[in-house]
Amino acid sequence: MARLEVPRPATFVTLTGFMGVGKSRIGRELARALMLHFIDLDRYIERRTGISIPDIFRHLGEEAFRRMEKEAVRELVGKDYLVLSLGGGTFMDPESQKALLGRGPVVALWASPETILERATRKPGERPLLQVENPLERIRTLLEARAPVYRKAHIHVSTDGRRVEEVVEEIVEKLWRHAEARGA
Ligand code: S3P
Repeated sequence: MARLEVPRPATFVTLTGFMGVGKSRIGRELARALMLHFIDLDRYIERRTGISIPDIFRHLGEEAFRRMEKEAVRELVGKDYLVLSLGGGTFMDPESQKALLGRGPVVALWASPETILERATRKPGERPLLQVENPLERIRTLLEARAPVYRKAHIHVSTDGRRVEEVVEEIVEKLWRHAEARGA
């Protein structure tokens, strides 16, 4: 194919952040805006295994799920023209983190624990880690533990009370600035 390419700030973008910050919805729209493919890592694992995430946790355990995530990341960093939305815990793995940070810009999405609670518990049973008596407390503790890792991302954007288009616009702008700073 002729190498005719529209100018783009990046051809591989990773989205990370806590459950319920909007990684999937925003990732899909960001991919559309940049004319890239979109993969949601949770859906990718579900399609590969034929098992839903809650069932993987229930029947195979969290450790098995983490291995699947790691393997999927290892495979997907070899692709291009891709926006990849991770699961909330994927970026905690040092090997995946290093591979993704080295592959292209990593964008962390942020929201308050209250917003996360509202968004992440809409569909009962979908988020195995929040199946506890006090999910808000669980969100606060987990978020506090994970925040230092999310902070390693190159770009940070808040999704609290904002429309998807607005967030996507900010990400695209920041991706350009990031690319320019790197002399691309
Ligand atoms: C998890 C987040 C989920 C999913 C799994 C574990 C986590 O993805 O991968 O339930 O450890 O935070 P989302 O962030 O898309 O909800």
